[in-house]
Amino acid sequence: MKEIAVIGAGTMGNGIAHVFAMKGYKVALIDIAESALEKAMATIEKNLDRMVRKERITEGDKLTTLAGITTYTDMKQGVAGRDLIIEAATENIDLKLKIFKNLDELAAPNAILATNTSSISITKIAAATQRPDKVIGMHFFNPVPVMKLVEVINGYATDPQVTAEIMDMSKGLGKVPVEVKDYPGFAANRILMPMLNEAFYTLYEGVSGVQEIDTVMKLGMGHPMGPLQLADFVGLDVCLAILEVLHKGFGNPKYAACPLLVNMVTAGKLGRKSGEGFYDYSAKGKDLVVAQQFA
Ligand code: CAA
Repeated sequence: MKEIAVIGAGTMGNGIAHVFAMKGYKVALIDIAESALEKAMATIEKNLDRMVRKERITEGDKLTTLAGITTYTDMKQGVAGRDLIIEAATENIDLKLKIFKNLDELAAPNAILATNTSSISITKIAAATQRPDKVIGMHFFNPVPVMKLVEVINGYATDPQVTAEIMDMSKGLGKVPVEVKDYPGFAANRILMPMLNEAFYTLYEGVSGVQEIDTVMKLGMGHPMGPLQLADFVGLDVCLAILEVLHKGFGNPKYAACPLLVNMVTAGKLGRKSGEGFYDYSAKGKDLVVAQQFA
């Protein structure tokens, strides 16, 4: 299996294309917007340049990797003849169901259809196709070239042979795959999101400040980023959407999103991507600046 396609050229999609191309796969990177594809290729080049600077790869490796990625705005052309298609579009259920219905018609009959969803049911996505046995979750973590984990999620009907292939392929990418079942939040976000939500409550209830909460978890627990910085990095809208999936899926009030998070998302404060969340990213300096609201 050496020819794959990635749908969606955002942060996750370009990271996934990057890691596959670096291992010699021929990658079709597909997005509806030409501008998104241009931005993705520029990001991949920037991340490869950083690896060249750190002497992890040579300039030649960088050029070969870039040459291994072809961009498409036409899904039919992009997926033709590919053995594996990984969807990494926006986390929106209607959009994903539509993409999988189309993919089922356009992709080769034997192709595996994977989704990088962080919280939407694999079983539900698979049900939009005529090949639910070939649909699987392949959940990467941001930044994809750095984070070793791939959460491999089996839908209700996923063929164990498909799971075995995806596990092997993930190992071949230099990642560590972990197999999990298809229940709300899978394993990673079921554990991560309640922790982040508790950090939001700790701030909301005035127990401590933004920097203090992050310092507690960085220096006390050895996390590379504090929970509020990490929430900004993931996107506060994404955190809210996943908490809602957990809350609805389990019907347990312990997953109810903190009202502060709800207000921030409503106000358009989505974290790093919108320029402000718990921290203010407008200054562009190296040091993190706490957003005015919490300073
Ligand atoms: N692409 C490629 N390499 C990158 C990179 C990128 N976008 N960003 C950082 N790096 C590399 C750097 O080159 C550096 O490499 P070396 O250590 O080999 O020299 C390394 O990553 C560390 O980078 P920095 O020294 O610049 O910065 P840092 O030490 O602050 O680390 C970090 C940055 C790796 C992002 C680190 O802070 C971290 O691990 N944070 C936590 C990230 C995390 O938890 N991600 C998961 C989020 S949840 C998710 O994605 C899924 C979901 O469903 C919500």
